[in-house]
Amino acid sequence: MPLVSMRQLLDEAAKGGYGIGAFNVNNMEQIQAIMEAARETKSPVIVQASRGARAYSQDRFLYHLMLAAAELYPEIPMVLHQDHGNSVETCKSAIDMGFTSVMMDGSLMPDGQTPSSFEYNVDATRRVVEMAHAKGVTVEGEIGCLGGIEDGHGAGLDGLSHLTDPDQAVKFVKLTGLDALAIAIGTSHGAYKFSKKPTGKTLKMARLIEIHDKLPNVHLVMHGSSSVPKKLQNIINRYGGKLKPTWGVPIKEIQLGIKNGVRKINVDTDNRLAMTGAVRKVLMKSPKKFDPRDYLKPAREAMKKVVAERMGQFGQAGHAGDYAPIPLEEMARRYRA
Ligand code: G3H
Ligand code: 13P
Ligand code: ZN
Repeated sequence: MPLVSMRQLLDEAAKGGYGIGAFNVNNMEQIQAIMEAARETKSPVIVQASRGARAYSQDRFLYHLMLAAAELYPEIPMVLHQDHGNSVETCKSAIDMGFTSVMMDGSLMPDGQTPSSFEYNVDATRRVVEMAHAKGVTVEGEIGCLGGIEDGHGAGLDGLSHLTDPDQAVKFVKLTGLDALAIAIGTSHGAYKFSKKPTGKTLKMARLIEIHDKLPNVHLVMHGSSSVPKKLQNIINRYGGKLKPTWGVPIKEIQLGIKNGVRKINVDTDNRLAMTGAVRKVLMKSPKKFDPRDYLKPAREAMKKVVAERMGQFGQAGHAGDYAPIPLEEMARRYRA
């Protein structure tokens, strides 16, 4: 199946009342893990690449790996999405290369660190919408700022300092014409989201529901949605790692989000934890091994397990064959209309 627009997947998810995990990739093993999980669970997939991932893979390696995935898994509707685009230029370069969806994260300035003004965010996002929709490409925007910092991206804020204002979200959607809206409700990128199990005071699901009530037809996106399972933390620490105790976003809260308009759920950290635990285990238990396949295969398998589990929990499992892909040209025509 060719790469398809994210809009189509999210519209279908909304009809079916389920969510779709968006998993970050940097290399072949991670793409293979996602595709195998998708085949096993019959799931549509969103594969996303950050700016860091694009640089790490020299862009073209990643793109061609995705083409290989489309060729080898023809039954799986698959989206290639730019995660946290920092500028109109970044989104343009993604679209030019063949990404079928982009995030213009105008909640931060192009340095990827400084919270921006509402006016700046509207202007940058609207420009990306005009450029992307002309080609049938989907656009995600963000209003409010997430906490944390990953690879230089993020303001390093506390997750609660820049929550999404529901009325501002309504204005933002109207002024930009975007397809999907990322909101800040207390989550952060990375492993250290919450210092204890989150409550309504730290993870603001009520805020999400309020936004959904005001924007019932808008696809909402939850970033920083790894659950940081104790089991994965323990494997890392058992084999020489030094993670501090930490809590992620409980699956049942994500499921509550899905009942209230969340269609895209971003997960990276859980997969990083799974892979790292598997690599550490092999290297600690078998110090004589030195063939990278000896640790990359278990790492790939560990990630596949997490992804397949999330596909079941988010509800996308079983939906890969529900629809035929709409060509991007047809999506472009629909946007024009
Ligand atoms: O946005 C956060 C993702 O976890 C990507 O992280 O920028 O380190 O690739 P990265
Ligand atoms: P996690 O760090 O919680 O996996 O979040 C990933 C993310 O939001 C990518 O955009
Ligand atoms: Zn994110």
